[in-house]
Amino acid sequence: MDRYAVLGQPVAHSKSPRIHAAFAESLGQKLLYEACEIAPDELGPSLSRFHAEGWAGFNLTVPHKQAGAALCESRSEAAEAAGAVNTLIRTATGWHGDNTDGAGLVRDLLANLGVAIKGKRVLVLGAGGAARGIVAPLLAEGPAELAISNRNPWKPEEIAAALKPLGNIVPRTHLSLKGDRYDLILNATSAGHSGAIPRLPPKLIAEGGIAYDLNYGQAAVPFLVWAKSEGAARVSDGLGMLVEQAAEAFQRWRGLRPETAAVLASLRG
Ligand SMILES: NC(=O)c1ccc[n+]([C@@H]2O[C@H](COP(=O)([O-])OP(=O)(O)OC[C@H]3O[C@@H](n4cnc5c(N)ncnc54)[C@H](OP(=O)(O)O)[C@@H]3O)[C@@H](O)[C@H]2O)c1
Repeated sequence: MDRYAVLGQPVAHSKSPRIHAAFAESLGQKLLYEACEIAPDELGPSLSRFHAEGWAGFNLTVPHKQAGAALCESRSEAAEAAGAVNTLIRTATGWHGDNTDGAGLVRDLLANLGVAIKGKRVLVLGAGGAARGIVAPLLAEGPAELAISNRNPWKPEEIAAALKPLGNIVPRTHLSLKGDRYDLILNATSAGHSGAIPRLPPKLIAEGGIAYDLNYGQAAVPFLVWAKSEGAARVSDGLGMLVEQAAEAFQRWRGLRPETAAVLASLRG
């Protein structure tokens, strides 16, 4: 039976084994999917050993997405743009790295939530691996403007410069956002894990604007509370993105795209 796993540290909390088991069952696919705790300095040797043992594929989560990219023998365009991989696909001689986070986010916004990106002013908060992974797929949807703002002001500049061939990304700082309005604000920071939000000026959300947190569970609460208090017309956490990025990975491994609605409903339940 083909074997898959999510590799991370910590990883015990991961919902990926449950999501992939549900996908496999819904499609009648026989496979094994587990969570493996791997320390950063073990990733390279572990991937070599897993290849020799015949594993079929992996998801990488914190802290392995960027280091994993360097360990792949080839990478998709999405992985190159993101500088990070979250999905490894077995090849005869090693691992092909892909990044399905951005595709998962865009699918959650467009297909699940009915949120338009085209022609909208979009702001991404944060400039870490997740932000870098979502900007190219967001650009591809034709926003009127795509801005990135971060606590460390240099990182948005770096992302905008690195991805210039793909389109115009406007690097900003949180402070400089004062007076601007956005139709869609995406929180791609990890601040919520410590109960915080980025320090933002007031009145950032345009009338009818939408706030989306890539985090879910308790980590999404501070930003979504802030967004409601600032008048967001709609808010959403990132649980749908998690399920959709998993569906994209499943499709790359198995050639079949699972239905996601029932799995998402079950996780929310
Ligand atoms: N739903 C999903 O499927 C999904 C997928 C991927 C990631 N995520 C979530 O997205 C979040 C970001 O992931 P990542 O991989 O990009 O993490 P990362 O590479 O560690 O980047 C963290 C980002 O958060 C910012 N930040 C952290 N604490 C902050 C604070 N107190 N105030 C303001 N900014 C703060 C950092 O700013 P500085 O650069 O200034 O330090 C940086 O931009 C994580 O919480 C992760 O769980 C969700």
